Amino acid sequence: MTTRRPLIAGNWKMNGLRASVEAFCQIVAGANELREKVDFIVCPPATLIFQFIGSCDSGSVEVGGQDCHAEPSGAFTGDISAEMLADLGARAVIVGHSERRAFHHESDADVRRKTQAAWRAGLLAIVCIGETRDERAAGRTLSVVGAQLEGSIPDEATPRNLVIAYEPVWAIGTGLTPTPADIAEVHGFIRERLNARFPVSAQGIRILYGGSVKPSNAKELLAVDNVDGALVGGASLKAEEFLAIAGVYA
Ligand code: 13P
Repeated sequence: MTTRRPLIAGNWKMNGLRASVEAFCQIVAGANELREKVDFIVCPPATLIFQFIGSCDSGSVEVGGQDCHAEPSGAFTGDISAEMLADLGARAVIVGHSERRAFHHESDADVRRKTQAAWRAGLLAIVCIGETRDERAAGRTLSVVGAQLEGSIPDEATPRNLVIAYEPVWAIGTGLTPTPADIAEVHGFIRERLNARFPVSAQGIRILYGGSVKPSNAKELLAVDNVDGALVGGASLKAEEFLAIAGVYA
């Protein structure tokens, strides 16, 4: 049996200024106590990556980006490449977050190229997938998630270069979550698809749940089969809450 190390990842989205290093260092202090049992990644805005990595002996917490361009460099005003993130010391990057898919019209093909860019730069890719409220209501959750998985994940996936985050769009920032049974169904389905496509390595690939994860529901959500950790938005901005979520594994 493969044992997958739990991973608690924080997506700060467009939140945080230089003074937020204080919250980051509180996370590091707490993570030091849990590092034997849990992996930690914090993805602040790109403006803070370099500062965070240079602060408070951040060894127990990897720092990641929230997006990257598919090309290594070039005339792409405002964009940031995977190589640039790696150059700062980032170890991971979120790609295909539903906010990127919705507000920046990113397709599965775009996400696939960004995932390849992350790997080219030596970064762990955290690839996000998930259905909208209407898709769930129409009974299309598994077909949507299956298509995103197929379209967004390149063939070279391994447990070391890929983490999948299942984030139902309707659960993000809303306080709503699927039932444990619904999460088990989707994560089980993702695991099956990974097994079929990557028979040798699928068992080692971690699948995170994301969407309104809080200290109050973390225990229930993280206990679900095939949930190997969480991708946390709002609650990752407060060290106490983020650490309380990870504390489920203590
Ligand atoms: P919330 O935890 O704020 O719902 O956000 C989840 C998310 O989008 C993480 O990527």
